[in-house]
Amino acid sequence: MLDIRFLDAVVGSFALYCVYRLFTLEKRAGPLPPGPPKLPIIGNLTQMPQEKEWLTFAKWGEQYGKLSSVTVLGQNLIIVNSASIAREMLDKNSAIYSDRPVIPMGGELCGWKNTLVLTPYGERFRNYRRLAHQLFGNAATMKSFHPVEELETHRFLKRLLSRPAEFSDHIRKTAGAIILRISHGYEVGEGADPFVTLADKATEQFALSTSPGGFLVNLIPFLQYIPDWVPGTAFKKTAKEWSATLNEMVDLPYNFVKKQIATGSAEPSYVSKLVEGQTLSAEQEFEIKWSSASLYSGGADTTVSAIHSFFKAMALYPEVQAKAQAELDAVVGNDRLPSFEDRDHLPYLQAVTLEALRWHSVVPTSVPHRVTEDNVFKGYFIPKGSLVLANLWQMNHDPEVYSDPMSFKPERFMGPNPESDPRDSCFGFGRRICPGRVLADASVFISCAMALAVFNISKYSEDGKIIEPDTDQTTGTISHPSTFKCTISPRSDKAVELIQADERR
Ligand code: HEM
Repeated sequence: MLDIRFLDAVVGSFALYCVYRLFTLEKRAGPLPPGPPKLPIIGNLTQMPQEKEWLTFAKWGEQYGKLSSVTVLGQNLIIVNSASIAREMLDKNSAIYSDRPVIPMGGELCGWKNTLVLTPYGERFRNYRRLAHQLFGNAATMKSFHPVEELETHRFLKRLLSRPAEFSDHIRKTAGAIILRISHGYEVGEGADPFVTLADKATEQFALSTSPGGFLVNLIPFLQYIPDWVPGTAFKKTAKEWSATLNEMVDLPYNFVKKQIATGSAEPSYVSKLVEGQTLSAEQEFEIKWSSASLYSGGADTTVSAIHSFFKAMALYPEVQAKAQAELDAVVGNDRLPSFEDRDHLPYLQAVTLEALRWHSVVPTSVPHRVTEDNVFKGYFIPKGSLVLANLWQMNHDPEVYSDPMSFKPERFMGPNPESDPRDSCFGFGRRICPGRVLADASVFISCAMALAVFNISKYSEDGKIIEPDTDQTTGTISHPSTFKCTISPRSDKAVELIQADERR
């Protein structure tokens, strides 16, 4: 009985809210950007794609214009299918286009709102961004991390040599190792590493708890206030468990650094630089702890996805691989591994790095920006509270910008008229632009360079039959290339020697 009354209340308040929204539509200072026809109350709910939403958004872009909109249960979604419109909207009006949505399950109940990606626009957000920018905001500050990148990527080569079939695990471990080293001065061990395992578990829970369809409470926020004893609230128990995982992911590496500082053995890192010799307020300690954890949650899975796509591209495009290897052989030779010092002399490899970032969209529809004030943009009314979704996939596969966009063609970035640099859009826009973009670019480059210098990557064959990888990708805020197998074999005995040599410290 109680249950039914409760449900009535929920449905009743929701209906009232929808009616209120319908009436408030009349007061708009102009039309919303065009979009597919809406039904009363539910709006475009039934037309919302269940997977690969970037494809539907791109189709709406063709039908209704590069700036379009839909409404789902009263929530306006503004869809941007062009990089220049995104820049004009999110860069030029960044003071009012930089908040994030409130996500009841992931943000509120599990606690991910304390990490940078979901932190509301405000003082704490600015502090997080300032700290991250000081660390690796540009090429000059990033330079101090080149030795760590090279060392960890060399270890990656060793793992690839000894267990090539497990290349996916090695990519994941290396991405985690680089970030934990930079953020906490923590060196991961061989085999299963407790911090990497914990952080990967937490980030997987992040993906689940922030997906709109995964938990009803994300669509009906009111449900988060129901007492735990009410039947149907199992999500609250899950939230408690996931919040505990997140807190461990934040606390354990931080406590590790504090212990190291106490014994005088802390390696310079993001955390040690901010903590050592300082008397910190509780708020400062909170910000250092959570912003350092934000680097792992924002940076590990994204880098993993980009490097996977590079391996898939190499298996699919042997002619690109051969050209990059010829350049490496000519510039670096075969008696040492490539390093960041070589980057400016490897234009083709640079172009391969750019093409890897463009060809597969790691964050296809970016992370929504929430609008904090009513705004009129290009004659359209953008109401406060709207969520702006930048279709980065479309921006990087727009045939008006990139010729033959579905093909992996590094040549597009070379010569007198190169096509647009994908880094200007694949990392997002405005004040929320990816703070780890310089690190990401460096990681992808050094992985491509070192892997191609010593390995051949080719399609996998079973019983003499070649298994063709497809070019599909998974649905999710962070999208991965579909699972594939490839054969990774050393290019020569000399290459094996280089891989097995001691790492440069
Ligand atoms: C290829 C790799 C990467 C790609 C494609 C990527 C892309 C993105 C995108 C599209 C956003 C959303 C931007 C927006 O809202 O406009 C973002 C946010 C973010 N990224 Fe990255 N990223 C990558 C690597 C990294 C790395 C290595 C780090 C850190 C070490 C990082 C940390 C973050 C954080 C913390 C945010 C949230 C920023 C905020 O909300 O203010 N990312 N990234």
